[in-house]
Amino acid sequence: MRYQLAPLFCRPWTLNGISPRLIESHYEHDYGGALARLNELTAELEALDPRTTPPHVISRLKRDELTALNSTLLHELYFASLGGDGRAVPEQIASAIAGSFGSVDRWRLEFIALANALAGGSGWVLLTYVPRDGRLINQSASDHSQSISGGIPILALDLYEHAYHLDFGANAAAYIAAFMRNIEWNAVQTRFQNAVQVAPPPRLEQKQFPDLPSITVEEVKAMLDAGEAVQIIDTRPRHYSTRASDMMEGAVWRDPEHVADWIGGLSKGAPVVTFCVYGFHIGCETAETLRKAGFDARYMSGGHYAWKAIKGPVKMFPSSIQP
Ligand SMILES: [Fe+2]
Repeated sequence: MRYQLAPLFCRPWTLNGISPRLIESHYEHDYGGALARLNELTAELEALDPRTTPPHVISRLKRDELTALNSTLLHELYFASLGGDGRAVPEQIASAIAGSFGSVDRWRLEFIALANALAGGSGWVLLTYVPRDGRLINQSASDHSQSISGGIPILALDLYEHAYHLDFGANAAAYIAAFMRNIEWNAVQTRFQNAVQVAPPPRLEQKQFPDLPSITVEEVKAMLDAGEAVQIIDTRPRHYSTRASDMMEGAVWRDPEHVADWIGGLSKGAPVVTFCVYGFHIGCETAETLRKAGFDARYMSGGHYAWKAIKGPVKMFPSSIQP
């Protein structure tokens, strides 16, 4: 398969303070060069025999292919980021930016700061949509292969010297200002509208417990930090507790095999949170049992290890675990 050249998206003669000569050189030599390199590498990879080619040779070709492919994609995005007046940010993208950054001004300051930090070096500054979280984020990348996994860049600023020295010499700051004056926000918004169509990665589903309410470790931590009354029960199985060394701060251990023995000690006046090792079964089953008995019980998703992963406080597992 050969990659096709994309026509130049922006109209160079309409740009304000960026010369057609610079765009032409950039498009022809750097974008065109990346695409040619990508096609050469693709041909080389297709032609080799993976059974006889040393792995390090394949690995090097694949690394170069990644760099060339990302360079191609980012250059296409860069040229498609230019051609507007930079200031008129349409409603939908403006409110999405405000939602993720506080305000368009704040976004602009951060984006320019990242660009200035790269000036004198080289790399990219990108505004990227992350479907997982439905949010926009700025990132800088000092080479062509560092963009956010699963993210969809919708605006790109090229800070390789070839992108500006013809017009601006070493004055990267002037180039950054010119770029900001030429952002084509309508096109950015169209890319944003397309990006938000991408579904986030599927979330973990507990199919056996479809209606059982859960609570995240972050929510439990916020309740504890706020001093809210909550009854937290570690229901890791007894056999597991023999090798457990720590336990969530604020939790008590209760044997999930003998709920009837300890349910009488719970209050219906405060929510109950149960959890097990990873949050799959036992914490869920216990929460279900407690709900049937009339408690406001939820299981903590991710269990003990999710709590540890957010650096939630832990204590020594008690040596006596008799409930
Ligand atoms: Fe470039």
